[in-house]
Amino acid sequence: QVTRLWGGRFAGGPSDALARLSLSTHFDWRLARHDLAGSRAHARVLHSAGLLTDDELQAMLDGLDRLETDVVAGDFTPVIADEDVHTALERGFIERVGPELGGRLRAGRSRNDQIATMVRAYLREQARAIAGELLDLVAALEHQARANIDVAMPGRTHLQHAQPVLLAHHLLAHAWPLLRDVERLRDWDRRADVSAYGSGALAGSSLGLDPEAVAAELGFSASAENSIDATAARDVVAEFGFVAAMIGVDLSRLSEEIILWSTKEFGFVTLDDAFATGSSIMPQKKNPDVAELARGKSGRLIGDLAGLLSSLKALPLAYNRDLQEDKEPVFDAVDTLLLLLPAFTGMVATLRFHGERMAELAPQGFSLATDIAEWLVRKRVPFREAHELAGACVRACEQRGIDLPDLSDSELAEISPHLTPEVREVLTVAGSLDSRSAKGGTAPARVVEQADRVASATAEH
Ligand code: ARG
Repeated sequence: QVTRLWGGRFAGGPSDALARLSLSTHFDWRLARHDLAGSRAHARVLHSAGLLTDDELQAMLDGLDRLETDVVAGDFTPVIADEDVHTALERGFIERVGPELGGRLRAGRSRNDQIATMVRAYLREQARAIAGELLDLVAALEHQARANIDVAMPGRTHLQHAQPVLLAHHLLAHAWPLLRDVERLRDWDRRADVSAYGSGALAGSSLGLDPEAVAAELGFSASAENSIDATAARDVVAEFGFVAAMIGVDLSRLSEEIILWSTKEFGFVTLDDAFATGSSIMPQKKNPDVAELARGKSGRLIGDLAGLLSSLKALPLAYNRDLQEDKEPVFDAVDTLLLLLPAFTGMVATLRFHGERMAELAPQGFSLATDIAEWLVRKRVPFREAHELAGACVRACEQRGIDLPDLSDSELAEISPHLTPEVREVLTVAGSLDSRSAKGGTAPARVVEQADRVASATAEH
């Protein structure tokens, strides 16, 4: 059977154990369409270089088309003896066009430049799909922000009540990192936009093939400047792995909040039945599994990145078979995100927020103390002193078991003559929110503008 690409200098075939170890078709078969596109482009440059007649080129392209039809239909699949996707496709090609013509296609290329190019082509395609999913999630957050535009909540630092904020402001705070992830994917694409074809095994080709023509046909803006770098570098794969891990981490942070918010103690949110799960023993349970799986899968995505970087560390130039280990982690990252994101977006889009509960908690924990201090600053009290006085108000309230607006005129005056009864004007959640009205603040008018900017950033991508 025509299959192995390297039999000539070997007296015998590989051991079964080696063949099993070496096999990659169970994961690299997903690159088959990209490898076929590469073969078409390669056939054309062989023709341009005078190495194929017009008829031979036409017969090759027809053969590749037939092979692609069979691959897509599942009528051609790899067998155990095919070491990898390239080997399998060469076998399929020779089966269709015969050994004479089929044996001409591999001239001037190596699996090393093929795989380096294909992995880029594949990841660029997947990056666009992931970006599309991220933008759907950003849109869901933006819609939830608008639908709940008048809901105040306790803003937290150290998970302690800090200052009141709008729920919409908080939700949009999760949208911006996701938009930056989309930007990261686009920015990454500029570096991935280079074809390695023409690099051969490591040194380039002697056959007069035009790497730029292949690059253009495969949708790359350029071919590689250095054939060694092109075949040996995988920073572009690792960088993709980083962006995927960052997306996972961003999702995990929102996940953690949704998990907390859906507890009885918080009572901020109810998950839609379609995005929650039950317990096999406790009939009352409604569990936030989507958020928990997202939180868990962020660990998996970080692991994929860590594995990639570990495989690359200290690898000498140029190609080493270790580089085959780049594929499973990065494919896992792609699959994980494309599985997770639609469910995650569905969960976010269907969250029901309990505005009254959130608003009730917003002023608790003396979260308006900063408003007292800033009111004093506007009355020309130095901030250090204002901070002390507002702190004294909190202490007085704590002693008496009351809240800041409950301090009497005389209690206020006792703390400081600066604390006139007018200070109560800032001691409401609405007043506090309205006052934070510079760009980026939580004032409702600013948050509406912010939602508009999120929408236009989403539309731009
Ligand atoms: N399957 C290899 C990889 O994924 C590509 C083939 C290169 N093989 C070789 N023996 N040079 O990196």
